[in-house]
Amino acid sequence: MRATSTLSQAAAIWSFILPAVLAVPGLPGLPDKIYGVNLGSWLVLESWMLPQECAFAKAFPDTVDQIFDGHWTSWFNQPDVDALKANGINTVRIPLGYWIVEALVDRATEFYPRGGLAQLRRGLQQLNAAGIVAILDHHALPGVAAVNQMFAGNCTSTPMFYTDANYHRALIWTSVMTTLSHVDSAFANVVAIEAVNEPIMDATQTPGYGNFQQNFVKVLRATEFLLGVPSPGFPALPAPANGNFTAMLPNVNISSIFTAEVLSVLQDAASILVELGVIPALSHKRTQLITNFMDVNWQFNDPPNPAAAANGPQGYDNHLYYVFGGVADPNPTAYLISICNLPRVQNDAALGNSPLWFGEWGLPVQFTANDTFLTQWADAQKLAYSKGAGWIFWNFKIEKSELAEDRAREWSYLEGVELGFLTKDPSQVHDPNVCAPYITATPAT
Ligand SMILES: *[C@@H]1O[C@H](CO)[C@@H](O)[C@H](O)[C@H]1NC(C)=O
Ligand SMILES: *[C@@H]1O[C@H](CO)[C@@H](O)[C@H](O)[C@H]1NC(C)=O
Ligand SMILES: *[C@@H]1O[C@H](CO)[C@@H](O)[C@H](O)[C@H]1NC(C)=O
Ligand SMILES: *[C@@H]1O[C@H](CO)[C@@H](O)[C@H](O)[C@H]1NC(C)=O
Repeated sequence: MRATSTLSQAAAIWSFILPAVLAVPGLPGLPDKIYGVNLGSWLVLESWMLPQECAFAKAFPDTVDQIFDGHWTSWFNQPDVDALKANGINTVRIPLGYWIVEALVDRATEFYPRGGLAQLRRGLQQLNAAGIVAILDHHALPGVAAVNQMFAGNCTSTPMFYTDANYHRALIWTSVMTTLSHVDSAFANVVAIEAVNEPIMDATQTPGYGNFQQNFVKVLRATEFLLGVPSPGFPALPAPANGNFTAMLPNVNISSIFTAEVLSVLQDAASILVELGVIPALSHKRTQLITNFMDVNWQFNDPPNPAAAANGPQGYDNHLYYVFGGVADPNPTAYLISICNLPRVQNDAALGNSPLWFGEWGLPVQFTANDTFLTQWADAQKLAYSKGAGWIFWNFKIEKSELAEDRAREWSYLEGVELGFLTKDPSQVHDPNVCAPYITATPAT
């Protein structure tokens, strides 16, 4: 995307030698069972917390970076990390905007605050010290990927993400984040990168998304390959003379992984990495990152299956909110019958989407819920999601203020523990038999 980028610049940054270590099978770095929270409204603000980020940045161009830095510093910091650790949280999912890679922003029409990367590094280091691993979630994509959603970074009815130019920008983001995850010591606890948060559910409205899934994995693995991460999906290569990327190109199987688009992405990423001052180095991790997609059943109308794109460790993400309707009748019994017979883990596994975790869920309901019900509701959801690879609650906390009303009661993990709905030890439940009265012969859908 930058006129100055050339293959030789790419060569300078992508210098490496090949280690002879084999990758660990399975999902390297993730806990056996994920007990996680989302760090929502930190680096991607949602307007039920504060004014919409883009409109806000446009209105206050001179002070916006400073104002956001204040929010980023105060919303998630050491006391929060301490609270997560004290409550046994082992994983966080970090929603990010494409604008955290600042060179990707077209400043003529796109208005986002700067300085997020330094905050991300700071937060990751604090989490790492607490033994908590991180999934980087590409939550707000270039051009906007979801209709009328605050999380997308711009509340618009015309998503423009599903175009070649914006797919390209998202792939550059992927290569930059992959590189940082391997060579920047602040990213030591990053174990996975999620391609796209919640794409439009109707697959007829996401043209090219299947091809993007393929390219996402190719770019991530190609980047890792150049950083010396062993990848069973690649043919063995000789170490290139003097780290000369150009010299090694004839040796890679260009047609399968190093496609023209992948090469173009690597070159664009290389020039951004130079700007970021990333020192060319071999991966510290030496193990592959997990590629992560929303599961195939997230979409309908003949969606592309991300399992077809897999090359190396890959995990799948499903989100489940009853409060928005369409899942179960709005009453406590219907909710429990639904969650206690949830077939999503099996249905996904049948399509190769395994392991599956539930990367967003919470306690909100469509009716007035008493404390007894919310305790059962928390137990039943945790039991359902733990049949898969585990769960990641939305959100780690919610502002407690008059404006935020009583939202923390059902949307905040830390508040839920405080109020006793969620057990202090996340691997436990209050009542392991909570589902016994609700199991039906025919599974719910
Ligand atoms: C946000 O959406 C509006 C149209 O709804 C568009 O004019 C504007 O350029 C978009 N901004 C970004 C950053 O995508
Ligand atoms: C890298 O290798 C290519 C192809 O062998 C060669 O043309 C080029 O001069 C080399 N670049 C450097 C900086 O050695
Ligand atoms: C290179 O990729 C093509 C296309 O995927 C494949 O058919 C071929 O076997 C690969 N060759 C090697 C040496 O891996
Ligand atoms: C709490 O709500 C549940 C479900 O509606 C109900 O069965 C129960 O009687 C309620 N408990 C109290 C103490 O009100």
